[in-house]
Amino acid sequence: MTLSFDPGYDREPFQTLCDQAPGTAIYPFSSFRVEWGPIFHRGRLDSSARILCIGQDPAEHEAVVRRILVGTAGHRVQGFLAKLGLSRSYVLVNTFLYSVYGQSGGNANVNDPGIAAYRNQWLSAVLVSGGVEAVVAFGGLADRAWQAFLQGPGNTFAALTYCHVPHPTSPEGAGGMPAQIQARTQAMLVAWNAALVTLREAVQHPDISVPLTPYGDSFAPSELPSIPSFDLPAGTPPWMRGESGWAARTGATAILKRRTITTTVPDGVIPGN
Ligand code: URA
Repeated sequence: MTLSFDPGYDREPFQTLCDQAPGTAIYPFSSFRVEWGPIFHRGRLDSSARILCIGQDPAEHEAVVRRILVGTAGHRVQGFLAKLGLSRSYVLVNTFLYSVYGQSGGNANVNDPGIAAYRNQWLSAVLVSGGVEAVVAFGGLADRAWQAFLQGPGNTFAALTYCHVPHPTSPEGAGGMPAQIQARTQAMLVAWNAALVTLREAVQHPDISVPLTPYGDSFAPSELPSIPSFDLPAGTPPWMRGESGWAARTGATAILKRRTITTTVPDGVIPGN
């Protein structure tokens, strides 16, 4: 039966992996927002995935929905998958289970033995069925995660087609004026377009056959699709699948901001409001 929601971690080895998720002994409070809990993945765990995408770390939207890549970065990745004809057959895993806190946490900890060992188990688990035809790392930390995997238990997957592309929110992440962000977005989309050519060759079993439509200089609205309901837990309201911006860290001090995610139902959802 095809469900309209994600049934969750209903099978092994994912049940055990979730049950044994590392906590603060592996992910220190000083570098990760461990208080918001681990967030594991998004997409297919039933061996039907044709592509594996590696992201970086969950943010505020993900902390609410309990699936990765559902905010701004997630919509951009969803559009990227659509250009490959992948409307369903994908699996997304982050480099980190918890949101990175502070400037240096990601770089400093990316291949800590405990973090890498657990992440490698997830990567092996999603790849072992043999259906995945290509791997994409979004960002430098994801690339380091993949390289570390190939050095260890992943070396049997070294022949998989692999692309490392800029992280979807790296244009904004570096800060600066709108014109600078626009220039970085344009450069990122040039790199994404090149990767799409390689990945379309590798993905032999797309869900839908689509002509390759490269990105222009910026994201068109049609290139930022909703997150499918079948990727999210049962009962997730539809507005959480749409445009991001409904969750934000708020608070007057650093610690209040760390403790608070404000969720706001978007305009128009409640009639007359
Ligand atoms: N959210 C995620 O889950 N991963 C990213 O890389 C960015 C945002």
